[in-house]
Amino acid sequence: MNLPQTSRLQFTPDLNICRILNGMWQVSGAHGSIDPERAVQSMFEHFDAGFTTFDLADHYGPAEDFIGEFRRRLAAARGRDALAQVQAFTKWVPAPGPMTPALVEANIDRALRRMDVESLDLLQFHWWEYGDQRYLDALGRLADLQRKGKIKHLALTNFDTEHLATIVRGGIRIVSNQVQYSMVDRRPQLRMAEFCRAHGVGLLTYGTVCGGLLSDRYLGAPPPRRAELNTASLQKYSRMIDAWGGWDLFQKLLTAVAEVARRHSVSIANVATAYILDQPAVAGVILGVRLGVSAHIEDNARVFNLKLDAEDGTRIDAVLSGSRDLFAAIGDCGDEYR
Ligand SMILES: NC(=O)c1ccc[n+]([C@@H]2O[C@H](COP(=O)([O-])OP(=O)(O)OC[C@H]3O[C@@H](n4cnc5c(N)ncnc54)[C@H](OP(=O)(O)O)[C@@H]3O)[C@@H](O)[C@H]2O)c1
Repeated sequence: MNLPQTSRLQFTPDLNICRILNGMWQVSGAHGSIDPERAVQSMFEHFDAGFTTFDLADHYGPAEDFIGEFRRRLAAARGRDALAQVQAFTKWVPAPGPMTPALVEANIDRALRRMDVESLDLLQFHWWEYGDQRYLDALGRLADLQRKGKIKHLALTNFDTEHLATIVRGGIRIVSNQVQYSMVDRRPQLRMAEFCRAHGVGLLTYGTVCGGLLSDRYLGAPPPRRAELNTASLQKYSRMIDAWGGWDLFQKLLTAVAEVARRHSVSIANVATAYILDQPAVAGVILGVRLGVSAHIEDNARVFNLKLDAEDGTRIDAVLSGSRDLFAAIGDCGDEYR
């Protein structure tokens, strides 16, 4: 399969990415058990279909090791030149404490070793506690490592607009912020997207299909019982739907999105993904993949030929206007983690 050109984005001068990224939290163990052999095979299938960009983290179980293994096998089978077609975006989520140069470098070196790369394409930094200003020390050290060539680009995850602004105005070049963004969680529309647009920061989004809840599988279905929520992702977004307006309203949303999907002969997940890809400042949508367990390669490929129109927007927004205000309830992007 060859994805159309609309699937690609020149994310930075040196990185051309697929606008649907393969999310690897799903290999962490919290979404069912993963067989490493089948997982790496599935990485080849995604890559060969055109889904060449992976999102991972230091704490997603073996995710960084899988990138290393995938790259070694890719180089062995197709030559080292093929490696230039892979983009792997990791995260560093440190425990609070002193952010000494040695500590920061040791963590970056660990990711380099695990992923078997000389330089990280994108390092997305997370911080748990804004009251602890040492996140600025950490970012300063990361910028030093970027100058040394160990990191190509610096990014953030789950930072709110205020602290993103502090960092950007402090002179650190941030290329993206990874946040929850879906029809259900539209908090980025309030402040984040405008700041990002004005400062050339891209949004990489997660939760866009609500762990699979925002798909045909749940149209007309009763509220999932606790035992059915068998991935960390389903549990996370089921709570989000409760906070947003509950299962009845969610069914109204699924019904409206299903009508839009029918108009375009695509799936509900396709509409959910395209809706967010169309939002200002959004660079890409990360869709979680239970590598080797389930895959939606052919279905997700349809997103790149889908163009939602004003009538679609009106139909969806009519339901969304009946939801609670998550910004008022939770706060800006990432506040749910703090
Ligand atoms: N920075 C952060 O704090 C943070 C937090 C969460 C996630 N993330 C990132 O975002 C990624 C996405 O994770 P998520 O938890 O937000 O999950 P998600 O992408 O909302 O949901 C993933 C699940 O959606 C289902 N799915 C995908 N495409 C589908 C399609 N076309 N039709 C029907 N179902 C489809 C699959 O379910 P089945 O496997 O059951 O088929 C898949 O496992 C993670 O892997 C991670 O990289 C980051």
